[in-house]
Amino acid sequence: MDHFESTPLIRANVSLRDRTSYRVGGVARFFAQPRTEEQAHEALVFARTRSLPLRLLGGGSNLLIEDGLHEGLIIDLSNLRAMRFVGDLVFAGAGAPLARLVHACNRRGLGGMAGLAGIPGTVGGALVMNAGGRHGEIGDHVLTVTVLRDDGLVELPRAACGFRYRDSALNEGLVLSAAWRLPLADAEELRAFSRDVLAAKRRTQPLAARSAGCVFKNPPGVAAGRLIDAAGLKGAALGGARVSEVHANFIVNAGDATSADLLGLMEKVEAAVEEKSHVRLEREVRVWKAAG
Ligand code: EPU
Repeated sequence: MDHFESTPLIRANVSLRDRTSYRVGGVARFFAQPRTEEQAHEALVFARTRSLPLRLLGGGSNLLIEDGLHEGLIIDLSNLRAMRFVGDLVFAGAGAPLARLVHACNRRGLGGMAGLAGIPGTVGGALVMNAGGRHGEIGDHVLTVTVLRDDGLVELPRAACGFRYRDSALNEGLVLSAAWRLPLADAEELRAFSRDVLAAKRRTQPLAARSAGCVFKNPPGVAAGRLIDAAGLKGAALGGARVSEVHANFIVNAGDATSADLLGLMEKVEAAVEEKSHVRLEREVRVWKAAG
């Protein structure tokens, strides 16, 4: 394996840094960006036949990738981005940017997506973590999710997807695409609603900063941002990582943060909130540990 030469599908030693919204991350030993479902299958077989750990990269907007080497194969499905509209049915590939899907549904008078405005990332990543906010979640109107597993393509009905608050049961295999049935609505109203949602986010969240959105899930009955704020942590820094002054549940890369800075600050926040409020925060942001 040490002498592996990159092929058009599988590339060796690819930097992940610019593939996350944090602009932090080490190197993937193997990296694939399939253009078709067949190529996605080839990539899966490549990993399985070599017993390589496999990871799926979406938009990288809810992800902290550690600096260092990431053994195994990382598959990026951003080229599987086709969208199709048939009446009130919508089909989208995992790599489609969520913002594009929201925009296209709004334009066609298809409701149920407008409240997801302002959420970064791809459809695939959004499905796996059931991305959303106070106006709904991506899983709400799902009909089926198509997943590539070792035993082939499987079409999961919504009930088998296990959608819950910022999580799902879609962690096995590769989420390739999904279908939704959406309620019909007025296109102009949907667009206005999305604009309002986005404007509210711009007021309360540091959208231009290098961040991974909210770092922690809201514990039952209370906002994590409020707890972090109450612990006096706004503006707290570690190396290049900083708790946002705008919204305390955002930890931003204020300059040249390393993954250790960001992780260390997350741990500091967890400890301080536990001490002050006796609440153990749970991370929403996914962390990819490097080898060794
Ligand atoms: N608050 C503070 N200090 C802060 C931030 C917030 O006291 O620094 C208080 C606010 O005043 C408010 C409460 O905390 O009373 C809730 O704050 P906000 O309205 O900003 O909503 P949130 O619960 O922090 C959630 C989601 C966001 C989503 C927004 C809008 C989680 C963890 N967060 O934020 O999701 O964008 O609602 O729908 O569920 C994300 O998942 O990455 C994310 C940003």
